[in-house]
Amino acid sequence: MAPSASSASTSAARGGSADAVVVPPLPPHTNVRRLPPTQQLNALLTLIRDTHTPRSDFIFYSDRVIRLVVEEGLNALPTLPKTVVTPTGREYSGLSFEGRICGVSILRAGEAMEGGLREVCRSVRIGKILIQRDEETAKPKLFYAKLPSDIAQRWVMLLDPMLATGGSAIQAIEVLLSHGVAPERILFLNLIASPEGLQNLYARFPQVQCVTAWIDEGLDEMNYIVPGLGDFGNRFYSG
Ligand code: URA
Repeated sequence: MAPSASSASTSAARGGSADAVVVPPLPPHTNVRRLPPTQQLNALLTLIRDTHTPRSDFIFYSDRVIRLVVEEGLNALPTLPKTVVTPTGREYSGLSFEGRICGVSILRAGEAMEGGLREVCRSVRIGKILIQRDEETAKPKLFYAKLPSDIAQRWVMLLDPMLATGGSAIQAIEVLLSHGVAPERILFLNLIASPEGLQNLYARFPQVQCVTAWIDEGLDEMNYIVPGLGDFGNRFYSG
């Protein structure tokens, strides 16, 4: 299942663009960052899209994509100039991150992204939001929210691997705004987005930033993303 050392290095030597794949154009939302569609990213996504991929591999390769998305999310954060002295005694004029961050996962699938955030942001605070479909109204309903008390002073990495209709993400963003978070300080980190989800999200919150690994074709009649990867939470937690 894992790429061999030789196949990985051959891909790298080719420069890593996704040649065999039709990459759809970016939707007209300026605040969407999509990861560069490299061969490596496409191969990782192919592994987790494959219905025959066993759970342990699904977790391993999802974690790799999550890590890429989190790193790209950090690229969206502002920086300040910072000069340090290196062991050679010379000055280096570099950068430091400005401001503090926290994570907020949309349960349950968003929890799968917490590890990737913790790997790059040690001791990061992580809140949780549970939104489920209200059986009476068929609309997403907030069931639970536990957020860091100083969240309004932080940049918020909102975590949910699949952006389907956008209903949960929109409701989660409303919760964040009601806790004083400025919309431009919200980074929605996501593995696969649908065009419909992005459209709905940006119709409501144009200032929110979104980082996604891939934008798929659309939704099926059950509101699953297609081609997608199925139910992310089921495959990650119970496969
Ligand atoms: N959530 C998932 O896990 N998969 C989808 O395709 C859509 C929403």
